[in-house]
Amino acid sequence: MKILFYDTKEYDQEYFEKYLPEYPGIEIEFAKAELQKQTVSLANGCDAICSFVNADVNREVMKRLADIHVRLLLLRCAGFNQVDLKAAKEYGITVMRVPGYSPEAVAEHAMALTLTACRRIHKAYNRVRENDFSLPGLTGVNLYQKTAGIVGTGKIGAAMARICHGFGMKVIAYDVYENKDLDFVTYVSLDELLFQSDLISLHCPLTEETHHLIDIDAISKMKDGVILVNTSRGGLIKTDDLIEGIRMHKFFAVGLDVYEEEKTYVYEDYSSHILSHSTTARLLSFPNVVITSHQAFFTQEALTAICTTTLDNAKAFAEGKTNGNEVVA
Ligand code: NAI
Repeated sequence: MKILFYDTKEYDQEYFEKYLPEYPGIEIEFAKAELQKQTVSLANGCDAICSFVNADVNREVMKRLADIHVRLLLLRCAGFNQVDLKAAKEYGITVMRVPGYSPEAVAEHAMALTLTACRRIHKAYNRVRENDFSLPGLTGVNLYQKTAGIVGTGKIGAAMARICHGFGMKVIAYDVYENKDLDFVTYVSLDELLFQSDLISLHCPLTEETHHLIDIDAISKMKDGVILVNTSRGGLIKTDDLIEGIRMHKFFAVGLDVYEEEKTYVYEDYSSHILSHSTTARLLSFPNVVITSHQAFFTQEALTAICTTTLDNAKAFAEGKTNGNEVVA
């Protein structure tokens, strides 16, 4: 089994090279190129390719992969909204993912964003470095005894619910299915959640139904001074409406690990560039907004799990087995 690994970063190569000796018969070629229709030909002679969360694996890419006899797409991530699964099925390409590599990694980052934004740690950090030990502008709010509203209580949402519960918060949630393990959570409608929550944390997948779930209408239903955190997918929030809500002083704090425009920037160094027409730059200009670069997953534990599960997936496929990590249309 020969795999072409697209969009390789140094940490990917480090982890995969560490575990590869445990998988005899699997060979990996690491490419820096992103997966797109023009770069499919790099996978000539490979049985599989491995792509990450921001690669747009559309119908044209699928067709070209099938033309060069690639039979397996290994997603080294959980989300698969970026993959045309219908096309994969039509072209006979199996898609496998890493369903739950470390829900706690993402949930802990959601809480890190919550605390950073609502205690103004991002501003305090810079201030103290300049020998400015003053406090005006850094007033925070307590989370204790406040209401956390979790949208989507799957693996990550459940982990976030547990963390919020540990902080002494009342936890309410909205999901299309209730998670019976969360006996301390009260399920409510989405509107109720928007009305009642002091902290809203998004953990549902991006689907047609959830696209722009948080728009100006939803924002207008939120409490004044709400904290909004998104570690799920950028498309859940309509960015222009979020900016309008921030300008109306609706939010005490906003923490974003994902945002609609991220595909252009994420995982790349743009520090010497001028970001023209960027809503991300607009968001960064607000003092109560903290943004990270789709890094909620980025812990040692999660990288290990991503690597070993991806290699397990390749091994299962090579042996003609299924292991439940296949994604179908
Ligand atoms: P999961 O599949 O365990 O849970 C998703 C939950 O959302 C399920 O309980 C499902 O019933 C619920 N849901 C589906 N449609 C819904 C709707 N319309 N309204 C409300 N709830 C709905 O997924 P998991 O592992 O918890 O991941 C959640 C999301 O986190 C992923 O879809 C992915 O987009 C994102 N993610 C972000 C990462 C990051 O680094 N920032 C890393 C990994 C995942």
